[in-house]
Amino acid sequence: MDLKQSINKNNIPQHVAIIMDGNGRWAKQQGEDRIFGHHEGVNSVREIVEACGEIGVKYLTLYAFSTENWNRPKDEVDALMELLVATISMETPNLNKKGVKLQAIGDIKSLPVSCQQELQDSIDITANNNTVTLILALSYSSKWEITNSVKEIAKQVEEGKLKASDITSKHIEKHLNTNIFPDPELMIRTSGEHRISNFLLWQLAYAEFYFTDTLWPDFRKDDFFKAILSYQNRERRFGKTSDQISKN
Ligand code: FPP
Repeated sequence: MDLKQSINKNNIPQHVAIIMDGNGRWAKQQGEDRIFGHHEGVNSVREIVEACGEIGVKYLTLYAFSTENWNRPKDEVDALMELLVATISMETPNLNKKGVKLQAIGDIKSLPVSCQQELQDSIDITANNNTVTLILALSYSSKWEITNSVKEIAKQVEEGKLKASDITSKHIEKHLNTNIFPDPELMIRTSGEHRISNFLLWQLAYAEFYFTDTLWPDFRKDDFFKAILSYQNRERRFGKTSDQISKN
């Protein structure tokens, strides 16, 4: 069966978020170092970005490095940073050719300067593209992001610019890193783990979750299309009843 052909083009999620998990286990299965798995994971990234372009997903957020990942062995952190710099630099012409716009969320200032520079160059070079927006979550954690938003709001209250009683969810959203993107409708996590791991806690409030045992380096276009088909078979009720949804 051609999975891509089975996808309903009128019900494509605008924004898909992915926790790319299982690189280390994949490498171990091959008798290789963990970093070998991260390298192979880049091929999956390339395919999934392409798949988004093919079916019309407009935003793709990838959890590439979490705040907690800084606690991994130094060798692995250094290798991951090098891989990020090398990949961004190598892939930018390809992203540009495919009309992909690169964006980043997270504590970008905490990344090595070389990584920040490569990232900013690629963001600038791809700024006018509009097929898919690829958002890399780097040194990102949702609790960090929400805490910062609350601090910004508290500052406004302190300065008398905002009354505490006037605060709504819109104020919190406005100060999130993601404020210019729509919320993801679908969140995918690979490798059989069923956790959200401090990823987009606010933004995933109404997202559909898709978990697969496939390890990230093995997750390719058809696996992505399966996730989209699963999403299309869900009934999204947003707190309403099934009857209310079917009447609309
Ligand atoms: C999780 O697998 C994966 C990561 C922490 C890194 C993901 C990064 C890449 C795939 C490189 C991406 C590059 C770009 C430019 C987006 P894990 O190491 O936690 O695997 P394990 O759970 O099996 O140990």
